Parts: sequence; C-alpha cells; structure tokens
Amino acid sequence: MMILIKLGGSVITDKTRYRTFNSGIVSRLCREIKESGKEVMIVHGAGSFGHVLAKEHDINSGFKEETQIPAVARICYDVRELNSMVVSELISAGIPSVSVPTGSCFVMDNRDLIFENDEPVRRFRDLGIVPVLFGDVVTDRSLGFAICSGDQIMERLADLFDPEMVVFVSDIDGLYDKNPKTERDAVLYDEVDSRVLKEVSTKYDVDDVTGGVRAKMESMLRMCSGSRCCVLVNGNAEGRLLKLLRGERIVCTTAKGGIS
Ligand code: IPE
Repeated sequence: MMILIKLGGSVITDKTRYRTFNSGIVSRLCREIKESGKEVMIVHGAGSFGHVLAKEHDINSGFKEETQIPAVARICYDVRELNSMVVSELISAGIPSVSVPTGSCFVMDNRDLIFENDEPVRRFRDLGIVPVLFGDVVTDRSLGFAICSGDQIMERLADLFDPEMVVFVSDIDGLYDKNPKTERDAVLYDEVDSRVLKEVSTKYDVDDVTGGVRAKMESMLRMCSGSRCCVLVNGNAEGRLLKLLRGERIVCTTAKGGIS
C-alpha cells in the first residue's frame, strides 16, 4: 500500500523570499521518508518559486496580456529548478525518484484539472521509481494557461492510485479554529470533519494565489474515502513525518469522513 505525500511550498521554500530553497529541511524530510520504509508517491508545491511571480502577473486569471507570457516561461523554469532540487534530495536519501512535469500528464479546462495521460506515473511506479509531480503553470483549453496547484494533483492521484493515507506536509501543526499567528487562544483540531470545518472562521486564510488552509482542508476531506484519512503535519518539527508514516501518534490534524 502506498502513501501519497505533498511537500508544501511553505516548508520546502521560504515563501516570503523569491526562489529560496530550504535544503536542510527537505533533505531531513527525505531521510524521514526513506527511514519509514513506506512506498510513497510525492507531489510538491511551488512556494516562492511560483507564487511570487504568479501573483505579480495575475497568472491564475489566465491569458490577459502579452506581458504575462515571459512570466509564465519564467515560473515554469523556476518550478522545474525547484523540482530538480527536491528530486536530488530524494535520490541522495536513497529513494529512486523521477521528475514528472505536470503538463506531461495533465491539461486544464477553465481551471479543472484533467488527467490526460497517467501512463508515465503508473509505469514509473511499477518500476519502483517514485514519480515526483509539482504545482506548475499548465495549458488551459479555455484560459490559455492556469495554475495547477499541488493539491489539485493530489486529488487526481488519490482517485487513481487509492493510497492508504494522504499526507500534507506544511509549516503549521495543523488546522486551528482561528489564525494561530495572530490569535493567542487559537486551538488546534486533532480531527476535522465537514461539520467542524463549517465552524472555522472564514476570515482565517493565508495569503497565496491558490487559497489558504481552509481550501486545503476542504480538498483533504474530499480525499478521504472509506478508511483512508488525510493528515496535515508540520514538517519543520523534526521526526514528526517519520512517526506519522510509522503509525505513531503525533501532533497533527486528521481529516476524516469525506465532505458533505
Ligand atoms: C502552486 O502550487 C503553483 C504555482 C504557483 C505555479 P501549490 O499551490 O501547490 O504551491 P504551495 O504548496 O502553495 O506553495
């Protein structure tokens, strides 16, 4: 059985500084994955290799003006560089892995992600090579181009490969009832279902182009099915991912029961 993991842009990069890679953290997380001995499939976010320019040039609105074109090329280049660094850390940790550029499997239509060709992912997996996908700018049949987030890729991969668990590695301990960065009495949820999510403050969201913690929880709930749970874990806390993969109890938020 396989575990599907997303390494979020907030943990693998410094989201506030353009193109800053957190190599020490990524290398530790890769070692934790290796040590767990689990079969995994990996997706990562873009962090400051994607969001900074995407926001500046309004890339998520699709093609509007010519000045966006060099920005799209630049973002695609930047996220591929980031991806190479992540794959390099995985290989160094002893995990044979390969970059699968998002646009080689997916196309979008009005920001809906369509899994056009799952063959590269399937065949690499069958060979025992971990496919690594990432948040990217991809072509969109209606908008010209659009942002494909790592979270959207996670949903498609979960549908197709039926992982036993889905893990989102981020820079927060889990989901709080309020923003823990501004509210001192914010309480961490151990477990979230769709009823709990309705109570979470709607103002509480982080500032990025593909929509904050709440959107993440909604997509996590959509990825729960049967006994499969979806976990949000802090990758900055040493050893936490390893413990989670080993089935030990840790500080995190688990999404259960699907969305209603
Ligand atoms: C965003 O991917 C892709 C681009 C901005 C090009 P994600 O939305 O998955 O990235 P993070 O994890 O939030 O950084």
